[in-house]
Amino acid sequence: MAILDILKYPDPFLKTKGRPVSKFNEDIRKLISDMIETMYFARGIGLAATQIGADKRVAVLDVPNGENYQRGKNLITLINPEVVYHEGDIKYEEGCLSIPGFTSEIKRFANLTLKAFDKDGKDFEMKAGGLLAIAIQHEIDHLNGLLFIDRLSKLKRDIIKRKIKKAIEKEKRML
Ligand code: NI
Repeated sequence: MAILDILKYPDPFLKTKGRPVSKFNEDIRKLISDMIETMYFARGIGLAATQIGADKRVAVLDVPNGENYQRGKNLITLINPEVVYHEGDIKYEEGCLSIPGFTSEIKRFANLTLKAFDKDGKDFEMKAGGLLAIAIQHEIDHLNGLLFIDRLSKLKRDIIKRKIKKAIEKEKRML
């Protein structure tokens, strides 16, 4: 296993639309285990392959539900995920490992049904609500080359982009 570098906005690769996985081989299993290790190292609750520079439709998530958080308890791997049903809206202050230090309130579907494949190539269906549903939509966005800031109005997006740019400039001056 290896800890991978997480690409940060404005890295142009983050705009890449991931390609569907067709071969469930050792390479994919290695990518998945590296992504899981990287997600935990970065203290994230989700990570998409796009964020570590791989154009594959793979995401890993470990979203806490309730107070008794246990690492690995809710760990899921989604390959070629597809939302097949959704209902309702939910707003949540989202952050992203590729845009450290910034959050925005984003509107998502409140509940969804998802189809995906697991690491062995077995297809499955799952239902998700609340934070898990939000995180899944956030990761699927990554696989389509979208960041949460792309979901903001142009005005709000321009403001946050300016702030991020300033923060990056400031960081460049640090020793
Ligand atoms: Ni993200």
